[in-house]
Amino acid sequence: MKKVTLLLSIILMMIFSSYKQEKPLYKDAKQPIEKRIDDLLARMNLKEKVMQLNQFTLGRNDNANNMADPVADIPGEIGSLIYFGSNADLRNKVQKKAMEQTRLGIPILFGYDVIHGFRTIYPISLGQACSWNAALVEKACGVAAQEARMSGVDWTFSPMIDVARDGRWGRVAEGYGEDTYTNAVFTVASVKGYQGEDLSSERNVAACLKHYIGYGASEAGRDYVYSEISSQTLWDTYMLPYENGVKAGVATLMSSFNDISGTPGSANHYTLTEVLKKRWKHDGFVVSDWGSIEQLRPQGIAGSKKEAAFKAFTAGVEMDMMNRCYDAHLEELVKEGKVSEDLLNDAVRRVLRVKFRLGLFDRPYTPATTEKERFYRPESLKIAEQLAEESIVLLKNENKVLPINNVSKIAVIGPMAKTKWHLLGSWAAQGNSEDIITIYDALQAEYKGKAEVAYALGCDFDGKDRKDLEEAKALAAKSDLIVLCLGEKKNWSGENASRSTIALPQIQEELAMELKKLGKRVVLVLSNGRPLELSRLEPISDAILTMWQPGTPGGKPLAGVLSGRVNPSGKLAMTFPYSTGQIPIYYNYRQSARPHQGKYQDIQSTPLYEFAHGLSYTTFGYGELKVSVSKLKRGDKLTVEIPVTNMGDRDGVETVHWFIQDPVCTISRPVKELKYFEKQLLKKGETKLYKFEVNLERDLSFVNGEGQRFLESGEYNIMVKNKKIKIEIVD
Ligand code: NOJ
Repeated sequence: MKKVTLLLSIILMMIFSSYKQEKPLYKDAKQPIEKRIDDLLARMNLKEKVMQLNQFTLGRNDNANNMADPVADIPGEIGSLIYFGSNADLRNKVQKKAMEQTRLGIPILFGYDVIHGFRTIYPISLGQACSWNAALVEKACGVAAQEARMSGVDWTFSPMIDVARDGRWGRVAEGYGEDTYTNAVFTVASVKGYQGEDLSSERNVAACLKHYIGYGASEAGRDYVYSEISSQTLWDTYMLPYENGVKAGVATLMSSFNDISGTPGSANHYTLTEVLKKRWKHDGFVVSDWGSIEQLRPQGIAGSKKEAAFKAFTAGVEMDMMNRCYDAHLEELVKEGKVSEDLLNDAVRRVLRVKFRLGLFDRPYTPATTEKERFYRPESLKIAEQLAEESIVLLKNENKVLPINNVSKIAVIGPMAKTKWHLLGSWAAQGNSEDIITIYDALQAEYKGKAEVAYALGCDFDGKDRKDLEEAKALAAKSDLIVLCLGEKKNWSGENASRSTIALPQIQEELAMELKKLGKRVVLVLSNGRPLELSRLEPISDAILTMWQPGTPGGKPLAGVLSGRVNPSGKLAMTFPYSTGQIPIYYNYRQSARPHQGKYQDIQSTPLYEFAHGLSYTTFGYGELKVSVSKLKRGDKLTVEIPVTNMGDRDGVETVHWFIQDPVCTISRPVKELKYFEKQLLKKGETKLYKFEVNLERDLSFVNGEGQRFLESGEYNIMVKNKKIKIEIVD
């Protein structure tokens, strides 16, 4: 009997201990995340910790001569992978390796550049900003997140929120334009859209603010170079979008390639640790940009990869994206005592925290779904189409040539007219150009039974070949109106796509000139990833619109605007210079010593189309600007209002931009600064009130080089369009 009891208790103990082994605390979904991390960290050895801080790539190996087994090639202990798949199959296989063939079973985090959509592609971010519809952008990011997460992607390297004022820089396409506040608003919208309320939901992904920081200031628009940013400018121009994104709960940030007046973004202790982690208390992690740690060598601040690893890591970059610096050297650096265990543990904790928040420990695999279940859901396509419509900016409409009605023959000419590929824009993730409708096809559908729509190429995007010109002229000669479709190829903007001029290639301008000679009305339609120099095209165009790169909806939103089915409402989020030589040119330049002198002698000094410019098919009348109180003390509340009336004969949507100006201050401040915007639908004849609730401390103060805010007493102007009203802050 005694023997039996002993045996039984041994068996029970074995069951109990194996149960305990099977279910360590970090695997218990009911435990709080920080406790789970404590438990896991305590079990991890140095190598395992270091591996969590590395990111490699997975996928795209479709070269038949070079087929490795991707699963075997990937160490199961890796922290993260950039995942190029459009379904979760490969991800799940690799994840299985991480979960089942490693000592601790830590799930891998799969990231990807989901920049303006995953399969359903939205307009490029610069276009999105021109919609001034943050709620819609939030929804679009929500759809991108759903498509991505269901395809095996947990984390997007988006939004890009680099304030950018030089259109020569190809990456202006990826951000929300030239203004700090605008970028800040869309940052919050996109973070909310991607991450939702609950990161662990199968519809949400972790977001990543990039490129922290100052990348948009790359000198002369040349990619990957240095940037000269004073601490004052760092704070008043570049920080706010990041600060607001962190406040909105963003999971991660990406450190930038550029140096900030000598200290690279990826080795910058001030921005990464003092500001981001200590001041803003960000508790997620920072990933380097692709190679930005290794590039500390050519940047001249590290003599070896090991030194680069040391500098980036101790500055505050937790994850190494494709540098092979941390996996090669971090262990050694810790063993040598150069990197403390505490710092290492903090970095690993941050990475694990994001994984736990994403629910990866509890649901490491992505459920299999069909493309139909994931992509192009009717509501997703609707959002894409609406966003593309609202992104279109009508720049010029002389003699109301638009909308195009009562014409019988429309000539659609130009290299953009029949392309699908170039309408996708850069960073089009898993977007499929085959699913896009061209401008020409969309116009044919739009005008079916109403007008004859015919096509000629006219010329290629660039080069010198004039062989298609005559055919285009012949078509134009027998048409009532020309829709001239010009613009930029997809790869002319985006990363590593700097241009010395933002004018279109000469052959495109020549085509326009030749066609204009025929005396027909010319509607210039542009698809572009940056502001363009239009000074030669503007005088010969009766109407001009930019559709940016619209993504999946292709030519349909544009066709709607041309026919009048859609009333355009977009306004520029980035200035269109008169000429490239004016760059940098932006609306919120600082007050200068001689405002009426110092102009260019050869060209106008003002831009061709300024920030916030954009026309509608109706007209809006702005009434009297009123303030709730004109003398205030700090802490007081202030409301400013303006009635706006739709004076035309059709409904329209109007965005009102509210600017402030501080004419006399301790530092010289911009001529105006955007602080708020609001977009409303106004039925024909309707008047609506637009209101700006001013928070004095937030909206009227200035920031110094340490990021401290000051609100000075004195007079301020609040401005809407060409109206302004004065208020005074008294002590
Ligand atoms: C480099 C780019 O600068 C960055 O924006 C992108 O997220 C990474 N490559 C990953 O593709």
